[in-house]
Amino acid sequence: MTTASALNLLDLLDQRRSVPARQLGEPGPDAAQLEHLLQAAIRVPDHGKLVPWRLLAIRGGARARLGERLAAIHAQTEPAVAPSALEKDHERFNAAPLVVAVIARIEADHPKIPAQEQLLSAGCVAYNLLLGAQALGFGAQWLTGWAAYDGEVARELGLGANERIIAFVHIGTAKEPAPERARPALADVWSEWT
Ligand SMILES: Cc1cc2nc3c(=O)[nH]c(=O)nc-3n(C[C@H](O)[C@H](O)[C@H](O)COP(=O)(O)O)c2cc1C
Repeated sequence: MTTASALNLLDLLDQRRSVPARQLGEPGPDAAQLEHLLQAAIRVPDHGKLVPWRLLAIRGGARARLGERLAAIHAQTEPAVAPSALEKDHERFNAAPLVVAVIARIEADHPKIPAQEQLLSAGCVAYNLLLGAQALGFGAQWLTGWAAYDGEVARELGLGANERIIAFVHIGTAKEPAPERARPALADVWSEWT
C-alpha cells in the first residue's frame, strides 16, 4: 500500500458517518460499483479462513415485498401492535435503493475458532460495506431492528439454522447532508499499560 492511499483511507475514516436510511434515495450503486463494493467488502480478517458470512441483496420490488411480510409477521406475533409500527415495518426497506443483509454463518462447535471471532469477521464485512459505500460517494447505515432477530423473518429470507442476520446495510444517495454526532473523546478510551 502506498503512503498516498493510506492517507486517503485515514481521510475517509476521519469523515466516516452514517446517513440515516430514511434520508437515502436513488441512485444506488450501478452494477460495476456494486461488484467492486462487494469484492472489497469481503476482504476481511477471518481466523481459520472459515468465511463465516454471506451477503443477500434486497432491492427493487423485493424491498416492498419484504416490508409487507414484516408487517404481516409483526401483526401475527403481536395482535395488539400499533398501526404506526406496522406502517414503519412496511416502509422499513423502501428508502435506500439497496439493502445488503449481512448473514453470519456461525460454526458454534468449531474446535479452534470461537463463535465470537466468526461473528466479528462478519461484522467487519458489514463495516467494510459502510466504508466502501462512502468511498464511492454513497451514504449508508447499518440497521438491525426486530426483524434481524426474528425467526420467522429468518425463514422468509432463507436463513439456515446456523445463520443469523447481523446487519441490514442500507445504501443509496444522501438526500441531505448527513448529521454529525458527538464522538467519544479519545482520552476517555485510550490508555497505556506499562
Ligand atoms: C450492530 C449494529 C446495529 C445497529 N442497529 C441500529 C438500528 O436498528 N437502528 C438505529 O437507529 N441504529 C442502529 N445502529 C447504529 C447506526 O448504524 C449508526 O451507527 C448510528 O446511526 C450513528 O451513526 P454513525 O455511524 O455516524 O456513528 C446499529 C449499529 C450497529 C453497530
